[in-house]
Amino acid sequence: MSIHINRKDEHVLLANKFYTPETSSDFDALKFVHHSLPQVNYDDISITTTVAGLTFDTPFFINGMTGGSENTYQINRDLATVARETGLAMASGSISAALKHPEVIKSYSIMREINPNGILFANLGAEHSVENGKRAVDILQANALQLHVNAAQELVMPEGGRQFDHWLNTIQLMVEQVGVPVIVKEVGFGMSRETIELLKSIGVASIDISGRGGTNFAAIENARRPHNDLDFLEDWGQSTVISLLEAYNNHASLDIIASGGIRTPLDMIKAYSLGAKSCGLSGQFLHLIQEKGIDETCETVTLWQEQLKTIMTLLGAQTLPHLIKSDIILSPSLTSWCQNRMID
Ligand code: FNR
Repeated sequence: MSIHINRKDEHVLLANKFYTPETSSDFDALKFVHHSLPQVNYDDISITTTVAGLTFDTPFFINGMTGGSENTYQINRDLATVARETGLAMASGSISAALKHPEVIKSYSIMREINPNGILFANLGAEHSVENGKRAVDILQANALQLHVNAAQELVMPEGGRQFDHWLNTIQLMVEQVGVPVIVKEVGFGMSRETIELLKSIGVASIDISGRGGTNFAAIENARRPHNDLDFLEDWGQSTVISLLEAYNNHASLDIIASGGIRTPLDMIKAYSLGAKSCGLSGQFLHLIQEKGIDETCETVTLWQEQLKTIMTLLGAQTLPHLIKSDIILSPSLTSWCQNRMID
């Protein structure tokens, strides 16, 4: 397999270089009220969930990252092994590279080879035609298609796209015609209520609000610019918690996925309590697989699955939807955002 897509390797290198688990995050600005009589048993807790009509034994997954080169082939192969061993769903990185350069298809299709029965999402940019969507789904025999909306990344990326006026239309065509469920996702800049309602109005039913707080593509792309001149955009966007608050009024009518800077099972539980049905993790899985390898990454996943149940027991929530009734206290900064945006 020849190496064509240098950008993919640069993204992996820079994501790892900048990887620092946030010591403070908007997830810390949200606290649960502790009640002393949970009235559920650990063994009765269920962590299954349903998103885009698909049922998942575990409510977190390996979110879209990579493919398109020799190095990323190995990353996808190893992460797909973790997904198979632990029953996690997994998304590819953008498959557009394989549509232009068929010789790199294997760096994506390896995920299906390794994990023939797993749930896989193919990933493409929002600008793509339905034909490209079908080709991407085909390469992975994917169960769903993630369409990323990454205007902030494109604008900072030196060679990025500059035309966005057709995205809503291309997304709608994809939803209507691609033949698998479509998940529209951000890439770490978060979403607003207006974006979510616009997507809902064209028939999108599953949305990954992917917020700020983890992997930062403004910083990554700025580091790739000759003069690093767009550093003032590095804190652009809404955090994952704020994006979930923006989505809150729609959580019952849409499948909301949380991603962006999710560090621990407690962060995940906070996301579910704000209406998320699943959590996606990218930077952290990239770091784990490269630094710790397959076995330790699998052990971490098993630990997280158990820890989710521990916290749910403490909160008296037998299933994920029960978490929405949890008593939550928001910090003044989150409360002020809600008041300004009239979220109740
Ligand atoms: C990404 N992400 C991403 N997203 C997407 O939709 N298509 C893509 O091709 C990529 N590529 C990519 C490469 C690398 C190396 C990383 C780390 C991430 C974005 C990713 O899915 C997610 O939205 C953000 O990374 C925020 O989540 P984390 O990393 O903070 O958990």
